[in-house]
Amino acid sequence: MCGIIGYCGPRPAAPILIEGLRRLEYRGYDSAGIAVGRDNALTVIKRAGKISNLRGHVTPEMPGIIGIGHTRWATHGGVTDENAHPHTDGSGKIAIVHNGIIENYQPLKDRLLAEGVHFASETDSEVIAHLLAGFYRGDLEAAVKETVSLIKGTYGIVAMHSDEPGRLVGARNGSPLVLGVGEGEMFLASDVTAIIAHTRQVIYIEDGEVISVTGRDYRTTDLRDNQIVKHIDHVGWELEEIEKAGFTHFMEKEIHEQPEAIRRATTGRIDHEFATGHLGGLNLSNRELLEINRVKILAAGTSYHAAMVASYVLESIARIPTTAELASELRYRNPIVERNSLYFAISQSGETADTLYAMREVQRKGGRVLGICNVVGSTIARESDGGVYIHSGPEIAVASTKAFTSQLTAFYLFALIMGRMRDVSFEQGARFVEELESVPEKIERILADTTRIQDLARRYARYDNMLFLGRGINYPVALEAALKLKEVSYIHAEGYSAAEIKHGPIALINEETPSLFIVPDDGLRSKVINNMKEVKARQGRVIALAVEGDQEVEAIADDTLFVPRSSELMYPFLMTVPTQLFAYYCAIERGCNVDQPRNLAKSVTVE
Ligand code: G6P
Repeated sequence: MCGIIGYCGPRPAAPILIEGLRRLEYRGYDSAGIAVGRDNALTVIKRAGKISNLRGHVTPEMPGIIGIGHTRWATHGGVTDENAHPHTDGSGKIAIVHNGIIENYQPLKDRLLAEGVHFASETDSEVIAHLLAGFYRGDLEAAVKETVSLIKGTYGIVAMHSDEPGRLVGARNGSPLVLGVGEGEMFLASDVTAIIAHTRQVIYIEDGEVISVTGRDYRTTDLRDNQIVKHIDHVGWELEEIEKAGFTHFMEKEIHEQPEAIRRATTGRIDHEFATGHLGGLNLSNRELLEINRVKILAAGTSYHAAMVASYVLESIARIPTTAELASELRYRNPIVERNSLYFAISQSGETADTLYAMREVQRKGGRVLGICNVVGSTIARESDGGVYIHSGPEIAVASTKAFTSQLTAFYLFALIMGRMRDVSFEQGARFVEELESVPEKIERILADTTRIQDLARRYARYDNMLFLGRGINYPVALEAALKLKEVSYIHAEGYSAAEIKHGPIALINEETPSLFIVPDDGLRSKVINNMKEVKARQGRVIALAVEGDQEVEAIADDTLFVPRSSELMYPFLMTVPTQLFAYYCAIERGCNVDQPRNLAKSVTVE
């Protein structure tokens, strides 16, 4: 989704802004632009399409040591040069970039139009530039405060004024903004990945705060001008982690990083002496954990599928009723928040608006919400009542892969803790630990040779429709597999419970609609085999994802991929990886933009 970068310092701003925009590309965008200030004048260059469209207009020599840049993901108004950010006021002295949505922009715009203001774009964001112009009396910070007091909705804003050539002013409500503190230079960004090439010292701006920045200092206040003392955080990510490291795409790299990411998610979190997990950030005593009799997990997209798998694991080993909840739905359902229920908000980015607002709604009702996030310092991580970082490292590809398996890992550890406090014996706990610890090595075996999956993708990428079918704990794996294929290859894919196809989807089966069945050697295997036969009987092609040595399944399926043998609960990890690779190679085969699929955004900060 939209990205912001701002620079203030002694170096030429334009190349820094363009580089920052490139680092934000992964969030998904459809247009880009920069504004650079020099000698009391601003130059604005913005274009629909890729950042490369700015090339030719932006040169490294372009004068200006202060500037702002933006990647836009259209919400109000089409993908045009005019609608791209930065937006300026009528005089061209003020430029702004904005992430979020101004909900009351129409009445504000009507008022400005009545005053004779001319609008150059169809965006909600442009009102900010014109409001600033109206309030500006020689102090940009004051004008920003007056402007945001009128605005309803979400925003991360950075503004500049040519009469204050060394200053950027940022404000935040619901859309992330972070200050990077460099040596004699400052950066403002929506996302730390845009600035970690320059500095690791960051300050997270909170909702309701305004930050005024020069190359040498910064000042943070609230809207009533009270000064706020901020502390500097250190970002642990390495620059190499946001680079491709020899892989063709980030998605491929991140799929291959999974064994390591899972190991990291468990590091220091397994207590072998008591055969249990240890998650320090939960902020709950054992007594409080014992009182929990229901768990609800709020999430969106891939994280929601992780939540579904988690619900099976928690119910299975901890015997605690657990449901995965689509955050976007729960928020408006007037949710019933019960005593002794524990909530999780699970989000790779920690910024997904649907999940964040659902979390706030539950907290407002007195519920306790723990966060499971990847991005350190993200809004959900900070606002939750405790939680767990999955430590997967930056996930750059829009389609989530390593975050999914790391999220599972965090939940498996939580389930183990809860299980060991209830019915799970030491021996069972120790076995669970052993199995979980063996998962990375088994994934390495899958990743060691991907030629069969590539070959399969080459043959199946021509189909326009596909079904993914699994049961029990592998039902959400089927949903996730279908989502992955849709996201990156644009093949229409549906995930279903294998048991459910007879209630409708079987009508789709013909020789042009292949099905991928997930068939672990668990208690439901023979039933899934029956479902496979039903599809075969209707001329449907079948790919089976089965366990090494399962000749019966291999004999029925047209094509079979094998994963190492494992215990039932660990199959979601092992079954997921081949489906990620399958989606990846299908996308390559179809010539798709794998890391930045059309219309998608990495971090969806609007509802
Ligand atoms: C977007 C992304 C998905 C992601 C979902 C939830 O739609 O494109 O890949 O699963 O948001 O994101 P989160 O950061 O909350 O896990």
